[in-house]
Amino acid sequence: MQSLSGKVAIVTGAARGTGAAIARLFVNEGARVVLGDVQHEAGAAVAKELGAAAAFMPHDVTRREDWERVVAGTLAAHRRVDVLVNNAAVLHMGTIERTPEDVLRRVLEVNTVGPYLGIRAVIAPMKQQGGGSIVNVGSIDSLLGMNGISAYASSKWGLRGLSKCAALELGRDGIRVNSVCPAGGSREMFGPWMKQLAGFLDETRAYSNNRAIPGEAPLELIAEAVAFFASDASRHCTGVDLPVDGGAHAGRFIPGFNTL
Ligand SMILES: NC(=O)c1ccc[n+]([C@@H]2O[C@H](COP(=O)([O-])OP(=O)(O)OC[C@H]3O[C@@H](n4cnc5c(N)ncnc54)[C@H](O)[C@@H]3O)[C@@H](O)[C@H]2O)c1
Repeated sequence: MQSLSGKVAIVTGAARGTGAAIARLFVNEGARVVLGDVQHEAGAAVAKELGAAAAFMPHDVTRREDWERVVAGTLAAHRRVDVLVNNAAVLHMGTIERTPEDVLRRVLEVNTVGPYLGIRAVIAPMKQQGGGSIVNVGSIDSLLGMNGISAYASSKWGLRGLSKCAALELGRDGIRVNSVCPAGGSREMFGPWMKQLAGFLDETRAYSNNRAIPGEAPLELIAEAVAFFASDASRHCTGVDLPVDGGAHAGRFIPGFNTL
């Protein structure tokens, strides 16, 4: 049996990368999916490729009016909303000294305020239908600190805190809230900084290779973790952070120590 059969899901940031992979898996698992993104053409193309079970709606997660329109549109089309995946996010890399205030505010606005507005927007319909599942896509940077990434890490730790509070507030209404924390995702997100890091390629590679399981999390496996929390198989799980990180959060892997 398909794990998401009959479920209706909203997936934000679904025009590419992890969000598109989540939408694809959800459709394969029997869900009907409303894909949202600020990249309209790319989002519409992904929805078209996924067929009748998918539809694209323009959606800027920082705008309350957009949330109202997308949730109303989903209810008009499907009469329910079982799953919200808060996946849309932006990355900024830069030290605290070199991250301007407006950039910090923008990152927090998309990555933390956006999901907050999304949770608020689905609470009423989920309560009315007797429950639902909210999955927030965090990051390994929701769990650990790292230099050069303070704006993004602040936003993702904030999202993780929001997930815990929402889980506690909404559990009695049958609404579960969990986080998936990948070490890896779309290359496009990190792309703009690759040029600046050209002189540090070995160190950058070592970051993802010095893990129990070396390398970045494949998009399909991040999507599988999201699908687990979306499905009834996880119905006793809420407030969980699930790292999909090859063991990065387990501790330090020191090359050479395995030879001792
Ligand atoms: N890429 C990585 O290495 C990595 C690592 C860990 C966690 N993540 C997380 O995975 C999730 C998916 O990211 P990705 O790797 O697919 O990156 P991505 O940049 O390919 O995808 C992010 C999507 O969000 C959309 N988006 C940006 N601002 C938006 C807004 N205001 N409203 C609606 N949509 C908006 C973008 O257009 C894009 O399609 C994010 O939450 C990200 O923080 C990514």
